[in-house]
Parts: sequence; structure tokens; C-alpha cells
Amino acid sequence: MKTWARLMVLIAPYWKSMLLATALSFLTVASGIGLMATSAYLIAGAALHPPVLELMEAIVGVRFFGISRAVFRYLERYFAHDATFRVLSRLRVWFYTALEPLAPARLMEYRSGELVSRIVADVGTLEQFYLRVLAPPLVALLVLLAVFAFLAWFELRLALTLLFFFLTAAVAVPLGVRALSRGTGRRMVETRSALNAQMVDTIQGMTEIAAFNRAGRQQEQVKALSGKFMDLQGRVAGIRGLSAALTGLLMNLTMWSILLLAIPLVQQGKLDGVYLAMLALGALSSFEAVLPLPMVFQHLEESLAAARRLFAVTDAAPAVQELPGPSPEPRSYDLRVSGLRFRYAPDEPRVLDGVNFVLPGGGRLAIVGPSGAGKSTLVNLFLRFWDYQEGSISLGGHELKAFSPDDLRRYISVVTQHTYLFNATVRENLLLAQPGAGEKELPRAAREAQIHEFIQSLPRGYDTYVGEKGYKLSGGQCQRLAIARALLKNAPVLLLDEATAGLDPVTELEVMESIHRLMEGRTTLVITHRLTGLERMDEILVFERGRIVERGRHRDLLKRGGLYRSMWELQNPV
Ligand SMILES: Nc1ncnc2c1ncn2[C@@H]1O[C@H](COP(=O)(O)OP(=O)(O)OP(=O)(O)O)[C@@H](O)[C@H]1O
Ligand SMILES: [Mg+2]
Repeated sequence: MKTWARLMVLIAPYWKSMLLATALSFLTVASGIGLMATSAYLIAGAALHPPVLELMEAIVGVRFFGISRAVFRYLERYFAHDATFRVLSRLRVWFYTALEPLAPARLMEYRSGELVSRIVADVGTLEQFYLRVLAPPLVALLVLLAVFAFLAWFELRLALTLLFFFLTAAVAVPLGVRALSRGTGRRMVETRSALNAQMVDTIQGMTEIAAFNRAGRQQEQVKALSGKFMDLQGRVAGIRGLSAALTGLLMNLTMWSILLLAIPLVQQGKLDGVYLAMLALGALSSFEAVLPLPMVFQHLEESLAAARRLFAVTDAAPAVQELPGPSPEPRSYDLRVSGLRFRYAPDEPRVLDGVNFVLPGGGRLAIVGPSGAGKSTLVNLFLRFWDYQEGSISLGGHELKAFSPDDLRRYISVVTQHTYLFNATVRENLLLAQPGAGEKELPRAAREAQIHEFIQSLPRGYDTYVGEKGYKLSGGQCQRLAIARALLKNAPVLLLDEATAGLDPVTELEVMESIHRLMEGRTTLVITHRLTGLERMDEILVFERGRIVERGRHRDLLKRGGLYRSMWELQNPV
């Protein structure tokens, strides 16, 4: 479907309010013309000093049109904006709903600032689609028909003159403007979005930028983009000025031509002189409907560019296909992986290449191996962030693909190296794992994770804000909060991906202590670089380039003298 047609479908539910607003907009312009025409008639009539009674109709007309114009204008603004805001909120919800199933796999291609820009600026740009693209031509057409009929009632040539100038201003000038500004709208939308993304990046990376002394360079990039944006805005303003001047010229030519035609008619006695000013000024004021037209194409181009960028995101196929029907209910929580092969994209190399293992319910399995071996990828697959291409993974005897991602994730707790904490209170960050948790459960989980006392020592205890991404907490404290979260969630399967990486050895030992409590009674998969505490594992798999190259218990692997042994020797020099 064409972009504009898809846009129309999105705003279609509001067609009644829009039609009403368009009708009101027409009535506003019509009242303006009526006011101008009756005023002209009244002034011309009054100059002849007739009895006041004869002017009564015109006086009432002026009063009526003066009031109705204001009332219609108010109502038109009210309904047009009401409809527009409804459309905008519908668009935002639509975009967000479409975004959710794409996370996280398909959204990694976009910078976070880029997505923010799309949801804020691009949706905002679509505000124009009805107000400045759809409505003005309709209103202009209605006004033209009405004024043409009115003039033709007096004299057809007057009506034809109006038709000529009106169409020139309403069609030829906009087409000329379009030819001049071709591509500007699209470039503006793109430049603005790049500028936004750059700003968000700069703000998010402030620490790194300052630390590496890159502020100057970053500033230059922002300056370059905003310079480009300003140029484009200047260009649009110039074109806008030119088109306003042309429209004004045509408007005055209309009045002049109508006078030129009508004055001889008065002289020949075919037209009462009292109507002269009325006809000329009425035609003149009908141009109010033409004024917004030259920018229609510009706004159309901007709207279409914005819509295309939104559709580009929402059209991406989710990385995971949901099967219809309810998810199975596993009775046990053993994980079986067989013949698993996976690549992130068709043209990329295999990240997992024939992986087989069984993790019995309640068992403990460790995965070690060099960076890039595919360890975290396995976690991504367990959580159904991506779907695997070959082989199978099953939980309690049911293939993972049979579970909806939401249902599956209920059975799994994850603690990774990068714990995301929201800029909210400690309590809210913990409740994320178990929204219904009671007043007793939070401290119990926190105590087990050995973070309760620290939280108590904070100025506002559990109601202390942790700062954006938890920057007010240390790495160890963040990890302990993550462990407390996992305890609260109380899921039967536990995935730990480098949960203690980045901590100093003492903190690491302490956090490991909490982790071992967390593991009790749960099916656990531990991914780690550090080969400490692995004696307690039932089995260790050594990954290298997507394959399992060694497997066994700690002692056996040490004896074998392979990759595991050399990794261990590197970390534990004698
Ligand atoms: N979202 C992604 N899209 C495409 N390729 C990816 C993606 N994530 C990871 N990869 C690639 O998959 C391979 C395995 O990455 P993975 O994160 O699983 O390694 P890892 O074993 O966890 O490494 P580390 O020990 O450094 O965490 C790498 O070559 C990486 O470049
Ligand atoms: Mg990893």
C-alpha cells in the first residue's frame, strides 16, 4: 500500500471530527467573505444617504457575519485540534505497540536517540497531515464553488475572472513552490532526526566524552548538523516568503480585474453601483482559503517522510514468531539442547554450531570459553529474544518455540553483567521482578542478597532514588539488587551471564556467596570468565567458536590439559 494510503487508514477512525472541522473551516472563511461583502455594501449604500431602515438588512448582516466568523473560527480550532491530538495519541500507541514485539532483536539496529526521535518528532510531524495537507485544499474548493456561484449570479465574466486567478494561486503557485523545494521536506526530517540522535548520544555518553576530551569534536558535529538544519529552514522560509508575495499579487490582480470588468457594467446600467465594492472585496477575501495552499506539498512531503520512517520500523518482522494457542505448562524444569545451530542474520556466520547438552532440573551447569564463543547468545535463545534456525531447545520436554515469549520468561530469572536499574526508588526497582510482593518479602530477598543493610543505611531506605541507570550505586550494589530481584521473582530456572564480572575479588566472593543461595533448588546455568568456584558445578562446558570443545567436571577438565586447563593456569599462576 502507498504511504499516504496507510496514513489515511491510521487516521480514518476520526473522519467524522475531521469532516466537521473542515466544514467549520469553510464556514469561517465564508463568514469572512460575507463580512467583507456586507460591509462594502453597507458603506456604499450609506454614502447615498437612504433612510436607515433600508440599511437594516446590511447592518444585521455585518453584525451576524462578525459574530459567526469568530464563533466558527473557535469551533473549527477546537474540533480540528481535538481530532489532531486524538490522531497523535493513536499514532503513538500504534507505534509503541508495534515496537514491543521487535525488542530487543530488531531494535538494536537503531540508535536509542533515533527511536526517541521517531516516536516524538516524526509522530509530531504527522500532526500536519490533516491540518495542513488534507483540509486546506478541500476548504479552498468549497470556497471557490460558493464565490463562483455568487459572482456568476451577477455576471458570468466576473466569476470566470475569479476562477482564473484563484486556480493560478491555488494550483500553479503551489506546483512552482513544490518544484523549488523538492526534497527539502524530506531532508529536513532526516536532518532533524540525525540532530536529535546526536544530542541524545552526546548526553548519554557525557562521562566518556569528558574523560576522552572529545567535547570539542562532539560540539562540532552538533554544530554541523544544526547548521545544515538551519540552512534548510532558511530555504523553506525563503520559498514561503516568495509564495506569499505571489499569492498577494494574484489576490490584488483579482480585485483589480473585477473592478475593470464591473465599472463598465455600472456605466452601462447593467449593474447597480452599490454592489461594486461588494463584488471586488468579496472576491478579494475569498483568497483567505488560498493562503495555506502553497505549503501543502511541503507539508505533504514532510508528513510522508515521517510516515515512511515510522513504517520502516514497524514493518520489520519480529525476530520471534509466536504460535497461536496457549503455552504449555512444564512439569519439570530441565533444559535440553540438541543439534542447536544459530546465526543472527542470514548473511552472518554461525554463532552456535551444533550444540548438545542436558541440564537436569535443579542441576548446575557452567559454560566457560573465550570472548565471542557464543555464550551470551545461548542466553538470548533461552529467553526467546531470537529464534534458533536448526536443532532444538526444550524446557520440561516442551520445545521453546511452543511458549509465548512472555510465558516462557516467567520461568526464567536472569542476572547479567549489566543490570539495568530504572531511575526510580530501590523499592520500585525490586518490585519490577514481582509487582505483587508484600512488605515482608522485599527485605527478605534483600537480606538474602546481602543488600538489606546497605539499603537501610540510605537516607530514605527503600524509597531512595538510585539515579539514572543506578549511577548512585556501586557495581557490587547493582549486582546485589539484581540478585534480590531474581530471588523475588522466584523463577525455577536461573541464568547467570558474567554476573560477577567487573567486581573486585573481595566483592566478587561476597556476591558469589549470595548467588549460591540464589541457586538453591533452581535449574542453574552459569556463564563465567572467572574459573573460580566451579568445583561446585555438576558439569562444565567449554565453548569455542560456537562449539563445545570440552566437557566434564572441574577436576577431570584440569587433568585433560586442554583449553580449560590453559585458561585456568592463566588465571591461577603458580
Ligand atoms: N545482536 C547481534 N547481532 C549480530 N551478531 C551478534 C549479536 N550479538 C552477538 N553477536 C555475535 O555473536 C558472536 C557471539 O557473541 P556472544 O555475545 O554470544 O559471545 P560471548 O561468548 O558471550 O562473549 P563474551 O564472553 O565476550 O561475552 C560474536 O561474534 C558477536 O559478534
Ligand atoms: Mg557474553
